[in-house]
Amino acid sequence: EVARILGKLSGTAEAKLSSHLVETRAFLFTQKGVLTLKKTLLEVLQPFSPLPLDGNMIERPVHAHLGDLALPCFPFAKALRKSPIAIAEEIAAAVDHPLIHRAEAQSGYVNFFLERSVVTASLLHTILGQSSTYGSSDRGNGGVVTIDLSSPNIAKPFSMGHLRSTVIGNAIALLVEKCGYKPVKINYIGDWGTQFGKLLTAYRKWGNEAEVKKAPIATLLQLYIRFHEKAELDATLNDEARAAFKALEDGDSSARALWEWFKMESLKEFQRIYDLLGVTFDSYNGEAYYNDKMGPIIEELTEKGLLVESDGALVVELEDGLPPCLIKKSDGATLYATRDLTAALDRKTTYDFVKSLYVVGNEQSLHFTQFKKVLGKMGHAWSADIQHIPFGLLLKDGKKMSTRKGKIVLLEEVLNEAIALAQSTIETKNPDLANKKDVAQAIGVGAIIFSDLKQHRRHDIEFNLASMLQTEGETGPYVQYANARAHSVLRKAGSMRAFTVSEVNDFEWAVVKLLEQFPDAVKRAADELDSSIIAKYAVDVAQSFNSFYGNVQVLSDSEDQSYRLALVHCVTIVLEESLRLLGMKSPREM
Ligand code: ARG
Repeated sequence: EVARILGKLSGTAEAKLSSHLVETRAFLFTQKGVLTLKKTLLEVLQPFSPLPLDGNMIERPVHAHLGDLALPCFPFAKALRKSPIAIAEEIAAAVDHPLIHRAEAQSGYVNFFLERSVVTASLLHTILGQSSTYGSSDRGNGGVVTIDLSSPNIAKPFSMGHLRSTVIGNAIALLVEKCGYKPVKINYIGDWGTQFGKLLTAYRKWGNEAEVKKAPIATLLQLYIRFHEKAELDATLNDEARAAFKALEDGDSSARALWEWFKMESLKEFQRIYDLLGVTFDSYNGEAYYNDKMGPIIEELTEKGLLVESDGALVVELEDGLPPCLIKKSDGATLYATRDLTAALDRKTTYDFVKSLYVVGNEQSLHFTQFKKVLGKMGHAWSADIQHIPFGLLLKDGKKMSTRKGKIVLLEEVLNEAIALAQSTIETKNPDLANKKDVAQAIGVGAIIFSDLKQHRRHDIEFNLASMLQTEGETGPYVQYANARAHSVLRKAGSMRAFTVSEVNDFEWAVVKLLEQFPDAVKRAADELDSSIIAKYAVDVAQSFNSFYGNVQVLSDSEDQSYRLALVHCVTIVLEESLRLLGMKSPREM
């Protein structure tokens, strides 16, 4: 393999790539690892091995004149009893390696300028060879990561919070998969709870079949709202609702049939949204699924002496100033927490996960802290593998976008509006485009996904369709557009040819350096379960590609054309893979 790649290097680069390089096994990027450039520098620094070196010490200077990689020497001063300035000078003078073009000491740093053509040739061959698996790793060893995501409530609109959960959870699934874990996406549908008693009561009093069929969620929501209005005047309605829920829990056939119908109609509506977003699930086991499975956990809690009576209800008391976790109400009804405990145990038995994630808004933090503590008290050490992944709100003009009480923003409408806006841009800019519809969907939906993921999920984000759809700035369409532009260059050029790399100019080098960081970005994003790292990275690549494209003639008669085309091809590989990891499509023409 090394010989094959060496054969493709240019004459000058080859001369410099002495056998020494091959012997020291310093050849770059051949492992499916991360930090390869940094690792290589560590090898270069081997002769200085008494230094307590580690890859994290190596910096990537922001300004190109400070080198491609830099080593601050301050941490070594004490051990060596020398000033960082002196140490940096010694290292800079002594480094002699075919990968290092030159090393400069500056104010206690060693700034390394890499041998651009060698690094570039090696990286491009690696990316072309690995294609979409570039940046993948098997760190996860096939371990299962369950991801509780989306989880909307039936007979209620799909809220902006559910949108965020779907988008964030899906991107996390893609990330962990890229790192060798096996994601299991669970849509824990909210299809159980006392609210269904209210809904059944309301439907029987004021509902009508045709209306529900026509607009299921809107109609059911209206019935629910009406129930609350009337119940304020007439308290007996609440008793009726309690009785209706009890009947449902006990398996009463008429209650059950209505509930199943509501559920089916709601799921049909949700499915349209999932189809637009391109998200699928491995399980739809929701709250109702656990309705008849809670017995064992209540027994276990009792046996372990954890259940305490409090005002007729059964609770587990918690330390650290946490409020007790309510397990069973005084009327015998179980709760959200009871069902989540049951589901957590079931997930552990079914999947034997190494990690169990719950992508749910900030406002449910207490719930997750409580139920994790309860599992811990039960002696389940794996409760430590449960992690709540909280996120902020979607705001419109600074206010929470609400789906409650009349102020409904129907998500499907929002998605369709984004698609329509994208479509009208296409009609003006590129009316002859093939598959306009698919492309508009990729752009419109992609814009919403990207604007959600580009900031850390904890932040509240402002929802503004027009700015998300801009093709300039840090948007999804901007990144998609850069990729499409790269593809159009490749189309014009026709087939790819073998290439050699002699000179690498600053524009090209900036792109190369970014492409080299992709595996590192993937690793960091997966470690921190933070897709914004990928989104920001994709913007950086798109920006550096655009500036390369604007300044360098890619299609020319020069010998460099084939090398530049290879670079463009690698840009498309990395951009497409980044977009895929965010759950977005990358149209090749827009
Ligand atoms: N259905 C809940 C809601 O809409 C979210 C469920 C989250 N998942 C869980 N296992 N509790 O608020």
